[in-house]
Amino acid sequence: MIAQPVRKAVIPAAGYGTRFLPISKAVPKEMLPIVDRPVIQYVVEEAVASGITDILMIISRSKRAIEEHFHPAVDLEVELEQKGRIAELEDLRRLQSLARIHFVWQPKMGGLGDAILYARDHVGNEPFAVLLGDTVVTTNDATRPVTRQLADVVERFGGSAVALQEVPEAKVSRYGILGGDEVEPGILRATSFVEKPKPEDAPSRLAVSARYVLSPRIFDHLLNTPKGKGGELQLTDAMASLMKEEALHGVRYDGARHDIGNKLDFIKANVHFGLQRPDIADALREHLAELMG
Ligand code: G1P
Repeated sequence: MIAQPVRKAVIPAAGYGTRFLPISKAVPKEMLPIVDRPVIQYVVEEAVASGITDILMIISRSKRAIEEHFHPAVDLEVELEQKGRIAELEDLRRLQSLARIHFVWQPKMGGLGDAILYARDHVGNEPFAVLLGDTVVTTNDATRPVTRQLADVVERFGGSAVALQEVPEAKVSRYGILGGDEVEPGILRATSFVEKPKPEDAPSRLAVSARYVLSPRIFDHLLNTPKGKGGELQLTDAMASLMKEEALHGVRYDGARHDIGNKLDFIKANVHFGLQRPDIADALREHLAELMG
């Protein structure tokens, strides 16, 4: 088998963001800032650093601001150039050059599986990455983003792969949980995959963590999967069905997941990334120390 490289990514970003009302009513949660850039820009940067050159964003009615953010702003570039604001100009131009970005609309919220089905025509017959647009995932080794680690596993073993993080037992019912056998340190071959199980039914405490690389065969399974948890079409259920035909691997990564759709993680992410920005890190550290007494 000659492995197909993973070139395309899908970023679902259509969900309402009900956990973050009222701000998410008019501001897409994917556009909330971490320091000075929206969450979804970090997600795009991870994809690009993983070798992705083509990105399809799945959006809905109230998500126009995402399109605006990635739209070239020629007038603003001229303004910055005239004022000699070269650093800002280069930042804008870099954003434009990241990848080819496309959009498709999900008319009705029908679950993550339903969202992914809207990518079918665009993706065609090649493996593709899925990065949830409201979640930033960082790795301890910044040269090995999670999506790259998953693409490597799929290019070696075929099939599909998901990023995994261990969660406390009390939280397994919030995630897709994967059970399997370790084939190499940190890489599991899945034997079961369940969406949001009760703790007593969970095959492990290994939770799917917002990143996937999927075989294009997933689309046929999505078309034939009945609605699952919450009356929605669940990607996990379609993957559990695909797993009977093709390998599914789970990759445990060393790093952190910042789910911006949740208030506490949003604030933590701003502190985490703020402490890494040379222009504000020292002042922020001082302020935090003062607050803590
Ligand atoms: C989705 C998936 C779930 C996964 C989670 C975090 O759930 O359905 O399997 O563990 O994302 O990546 P949601 O958070 O949208 O309810």
